[in-house]
Amino acid sequence: MPDGQNGPRRNKTEDDITAEVLARFSGTQDPRLREIMLSLISHLHAFVKEVKLTEAEWFQAIEILTEAGKMCSDKRQEFILFSDTLGVSMVVDLLDHRKPDGATESTVFGPFHRLGAPDMPMGGNIAHSDRTGTPNGLYDAQDAHPDDLHMRGKFRSDAEGRYLIRTVLPVNYPIPSDGPVGRMLKATGRHPWRPAHIHFVVSADGYEPVTTHIFDRTDEYLQSDAVFAVKDTLICDFTKHEKPDAEASRLGITGPYYTAEFDFHLTPATSAQATIMDAQQRLAALGAR
Ligand code: BEZ
Ligand code: FE
Repeated sequence: MPDGQNGPRRNKTEDDITAEVLARFSGTQDPRLREIMLSLISHLHAFVKEVKLTEAEWFQAIEILTEAGKMCSDKRQEFILFSDTLGVSMVVDLLDHRKPDGATESTVFGPFHRLGAPDMPMGGNIAHSDRTGTPNGLYDAQDAHPDDLHMRGKFRSDAEGRYLIRTVLPVNYPIPSDGPVGRMLKATGRHPWRPAHIHFVVSADGYEPVTTHIFDRTDEYLQSDAVFAVKDTLICDFTKHEKPDAEASRLGITGPYYTAEFDFHLTPATSAQATIMDAQQRLAALGAR
């Protein structure tokens, strides 16, 4: 609205500001970036107006984000923890990885994935022999041996698609809570626990890879996973055996042990996905040289 002397009136009300910011971004060339920016601004401004955010609260939020950023390293990712504990990671997962019935469902990637896991033979044990039997609920990046890629391995299935992995029985464990995410959980009366699980990234040529977990059906935190990652189809039985059978004896197991069986079903990749995967593999190969 013109004010007579200095051109259009601007920034008089909070809605004027929102309109002006939207207008300033409306020339964004990339259509997807334009869609994301305009929607982000609309929702962010609406949120601030709805809760009538005070300046002190906004500065507090900025301090929290600054602290989260300072905590991040190649061993700690506080922003992934925020994304996971706010349920955003699982909303993105559900939107971006819709699977046909029968295909193995995906779940959160989590902040602890590390490249460089060793190649393992069929039946290989990912629990290092000096630490078997004492599951301590910490990932390698968190414990006293941060560089030894403990509890990780790359396995190949055989010609019939069978696989066998040896490890220790997973336990439930709390996500890292010594930073802003932990304080948020505490302040909102939430616990930091994840139900016992094993992570998998499963891939095959011509198929869409899946990043997922399997969960222990008996775990007390299945209904309240701190990161909302449990899907019914990923829950399985860890069955106790008091004495080793012939196969377990062959693997060197002497006492009671558990088995879990899980069939992974991948979906054929679309040609667009196959092209992306092919390009990713070529890039990875270049990087490995
Ligand atoms: C994990 O399972 O490793 C994990 C996932 C999300 C947040 C923290 C840990
Ligand atoms: Fe985990």
